[in-house]
Amino acid sequence: MKILGIETSCDETAAAVVEDGSRIISNVVASQIDIHARYGGIVPEVASRQHLLTIIPVINEAMTEAKVTWQDLDGIAVTYGPGLAGSLLVGVNAAKAIALARQLPIIGINHIEAHIYANWLDPSSYSPLSNKEDRVKFPCLCLIVSGGHSDLILMKGHGQFEKIGRTRDDAAGEAFDKAARILGLDYPGGPAIERAASDGIPCLSLPRAWLKGSHDFSFSGLKTALWHLVQKGGIPVPDAAASFQLAVADVLVTKTIEAAKQMQARQILLSGGVAANNMLRELLLNQSPFPVLTPPLHLCTDNAAMVAACGYYHFQAGQTSDYNLDVVSSLSLG
Ligand code: KG4
Ligand code: ZN
Repeated sequence: MKILGIETSCDETAAAVVEDGSRIISNVVASQIDIHARYGGIVPEVASRQHLLTIIPVINEAMTEAKVTWQDLDGIAVTYGPGLAGSLLVGVNAAKAIALARQLPIIGINHIEAHIYANWLDPSSYSPLSNKEDRVKFPCLCLIVSGGHSDLILMKGHGQFEKIGRTRDDAAGEAFDKAARILGLDYPGGPAIERAASDGIPCLSLPRAWLKGSHDFSFSGLKTALWHLVQKGGIPVPDAAASFQLAVADVLVTKTIEAAKQMQARQILLSGGVAANNMLRELLLNQSPFPVLTPPLHLCTDNAAMVAACGYYHFQAGQTSDYNLDVVSSLSLG
């Protein structure tokens, strides 16, 4: 079964063709990072206009690269939320138009669920334990950390999600982006902080919000503490970046392992843009008593292959959307 995936929830215009929910035949991502960087963050109006300009070329490229015709496709999967409404509309309307013209079934996909399904994609997940026997086993605990979300979701099976933790303020990626701004680093903040941290030592004492008795996260206090530290002056940026990165990773890893034990999960799945952070990946892989699956770096950040993979499991379960499919910018999972 070949699925065309389409993703336009934020600042990446992406299309991909994926076979049987795992084999990537093509995966095209047109990033708008350079355009938004000059504003220090995403400008929603600019993002949707850019999606309009790139959506058709990106879909055409994904189809050409995959060497498939419309007749070879079995369905279209498109992100319908959460995300920026104006951006989501571009992908959803492109998908509806193609589905109508080519008489293909369509399925609306939750972006957070799609991030989880990046773990089903080949090349096999980046993990020392990533051979066939260690592919996903239910129940698994999913940590999804991106620019908009920091969720802990217990996945009991395909389509069975229970949210057990969330951020109470900033998402982890948002915290990275804001911390980078405080430190005078580029947008997006995650990769900029990771680069700066590679020359620093995590020697500064920064607070961790443990929120005992809850699986929720909070990062705004950490961001404020960093701001106060920087105001005092004399702090080397690489040390501040390394200390901040460790503080975020420490809380995410400790609380995820704790939750996995409590929920008797068999595995931990790490995904979302922040999962591209090497220090977070290594800390979780080293400290977790459970097998950890996490996609290769380029499949952690937004892409359409994960949307197509997720769509495959919905189509398998007989689920489709109709032409009334609309965007839901505040959509949640579980
Ligand atoms: O999943 P994603 O591409 O888009 C959303 O769904 O939000 O995540 C983007 C977020 C940004 O906040 C970015 O700073 C963060 O992921 N990010 C990272 C790294 N690469 C991207 N955070 C920490 N370390 C990284 N290497
Ligand atoms: Zn995302």
